[in-house]
Amino acid sequence: MNVSAFALPCALCVAVCYSSTLQLSQLAVRREVLAGTGRAVAAVLNHTWHTACSLILLTDGATSHITIFKELDKLQFPGGMAVFEVALDSQDVNVTQMKFSQVIRHARQVRQLSRCVTVMLVSSDQEFLAAFAEWSLKGRLLVWSTRLLIITQQPLQELRTLMSTHWTFSMLNVILINLDMGQELSFYGSSVNVTALTYAPHWMTSGSGSNTQYAGMDYLLLKTIADALNFTIHVLPSASWKEVTDQVEARRSFVASIVYVVLPSRMEKYDFTQIFDFTPFCFATSKPELKPQWQSLYKPFTKDVWGANLVAIILVTVAFHMITHLDVSGEVRGRLGPGTVLQEVIATLLGQNLSGQLPRSSSNRLLIAAWLMFAFVISSAYRSILTASLTLPNIPSRPESVQELVPLIDRATIESYGVSHKKFLTQSESSVFRSLGELMVTGVDAIDGLKESLKNKYAHLGGAQYLELVIAKHFTQIDGSSQVYIGKETIVSSVAAWPIPHDAPYKPFLDRCIKAVTEAGIYEKWRRDTVRQEAIRANQRKFLKLQEQGLEASKDSVTYSNSRKALTLQHMLGLYAIFVIGLVIAGVAFLTEILIRKYSAPSKRCWC
Ligand SMILES: *[C@@H]1O[C@H](CO)[C@@H](O)[C@H](O)[C@H]1NC(C)=O
Ligand SMILES: *[C@@H]1O[C@H](CO)[C@@H](O)[C@H](O)[C@H]1NC(C)=O
Ligand SMILES: *[C@@H]1O[C@H](CO)[C@@H](O)[C@H](O)[C@H]1NC(C)=O
Ligand SMILES: *[C@@H]1O[C@H](CO)[C@@H](O)[C@H](O)[C@H]1NC(C)=O
Ligand SMILES: *[C@@H]1O[C@H](CO)[C@@H](O)[C@H](O)[C@H]1NC(C)=O
Repeated sequence: MNVSAFALPCALCVAVCYSSTLQLSQLAVRREVLAGTGRAVAAVLNHTWHTACSLILLTDGATSHITIFKELDKLQFPGGMAVFEVALDSQDVNVTQMKFSQVIRHARQVRQLSRCVTVMLVSSDQEFLAAFAEWSLKGRLLVWSTRLLIITQQPLQELRTLMSTHWTFSMLNVILINLDMGQELSFYGSSVNVTALTYAPHWMTSGSGSNTQYAGMDYLLLKTIADALNFTIHVLPSASWKEVTDQVEARRSFVASIVYVVLPSRMEKYDFTQIFDFTPFCFATSKPELKPQWQSLYKPFTKDVWGANLVAIILVTVAFHMITHLDVSGEVRGRLGPGTVLQEVIATLLGQNLSGQLPRSSSNRLLIAAWLMFAFVISSAYRSILTASLTLPNIPSRPESVQELVPLIDRATIESYGVSHKKFLTQSESSVFRSLGELMVTGVDAIDGLKESLKNKYAHLGGAQYLELVIAKHFTQIDGSSQVYIGKETIVSSVAAWPIPHDAPYKPFLDRCIKAVTEAGIYEKWRRDTVRQEAIRANQRKFLKLQEQGLEASKDSVTYSNSRKALTLQHMLGLYAIFVIGLVIAGVAFLTEILIRKYSAPSKRCWC
């Protein structure tokens, strides 16, 4: 950058750092623009050194200008240097004004004590600049011989308005360096060659030849940039991923408009735009199934309650037995054994009616009343909790992190690119990652990997966005549910950007547009939209297929939803277990009875 153009403190000089002659050199130094500006400032201020002027530095305290201050460090100011910082952090206008007026007063004192003064104003805040313009005038900071150097970063249009509306800026001795240069680049409607290959959801192609249609989030981003910078997209054909970047390297393609993970080895061959995609590396596996619920019949009560119930049954049985045994009325004395009484007690507990064999004494009636009350409450509580637990079963928790996943799986599959991931993980310091790396098997396609995970204890690893799309397309039912899921934890997160040729002059402009789009969250929205659209399309295809097969889709979906509500064998396993145990015990008792009768029969006959 030719700084001598700025160094001339001309009488009325608003040197806006944007002109067509400067454009190319500015672009070339864009990456170091702050450092470059620092050097420019140093060159301007070198004048103060010659004339032994003082420097008054006024900033809003923003850290982004630290490079400029570093450059100032190297200079010497024989006339001295005063640094003021006015942070515009207060919402209160009066506080801000007070701060400004104080600072301006001090600065004016410095000016009055110096032979000559250069005021340097560093701020990207329009309010700050406006406030300075106002207060420097009120506080009479600037006189004709004072030079004002403004370093700012503002859109040109706003800067022009600012410059022309304030007396301080338009009439005094001002040099302005604007770091903002990106507004005006245009490709003037030319055709720009790019390279990309299908990689859903980033870049998707349909049709061929001149009818090729593109979709996907990266295409939308490129389209937006093309609109902003006024160019048309021409996609060069490439046979492989290598060719995509090779054409960039050879500068035949202006940009590979598809995200590539930023790696040092790649940066030797080509540059990257601003990093804008974070590709989380995740795992996907099948959702855990409902475990057999042996305990569903036991679950409704805690151990203590079961214990208390048992005690209550024993107590009531003993009480009934005593009452019938000592029956005062003499109706049933000796007729009811303890077994019959116990049966009566349990029958009432299970909601059956009384057999009417119990004595009719008042004491007995009171006892029955108390017991029925107890039985009513206990059995209704049990029934309702059992119903709830059977119809709304607890879905077992599924592994969401690598730590939870590793003990549960036998194998982690990954596509062929996973060789480097496996190497990386097996060399990790974390034992969890090491064991995951050891479980990894490379060269498995995502669809196959996920299908395997449904059958075996496998998980599939891959980019979250890609896995999401595969699941949406191939593993999602018509009602939107899916048998596989993506774990929440990101195993490794890598940053990705578009490859562009080294030192491409348009890089800052691409970066600006990419930043604008991604910071507004639009890129993420495109991602979600693309994935959702793919899922909808996959569903439509499924419906069409069903219709072709002559099946009624509605009927299918009804049976599907019904099957979800029905109780499965796993729910009822506890019940069947108890029933079978009961049958076995009854069978054993029956056999025992037969045996006892058989061996005791002769003696009976003898008695008769
Ligand atoms: C300042 O000017 C002097 C004399 O022209 C020159 O020797 C010196 O290198 C300049 N310093 C900077 C930082 O430009
Ligand atoms: C600011 O000062 C003006 C007059 O000095 C006063 O009327 C106004 O209430 C003050 N505002 C605040 C927020 O203190
Ligand atoms: C794009 O550039 C062409 C050629 O300079 C020009 O005619 C056209 O108006 C521009 N379009 C936009 C939208 O700026
Ligand atoms: C873009 O590629 C076409 C060939 O497909 C070539 O003719 C054209 O010159 C290229 N444009 C630029 C600007 O490199
Ligand atoms: C209730 O008990 C009485 C007397 O034992 C019996 O006659 C009647 O059938 C029982 N009712 C039911 C619904 O079991």
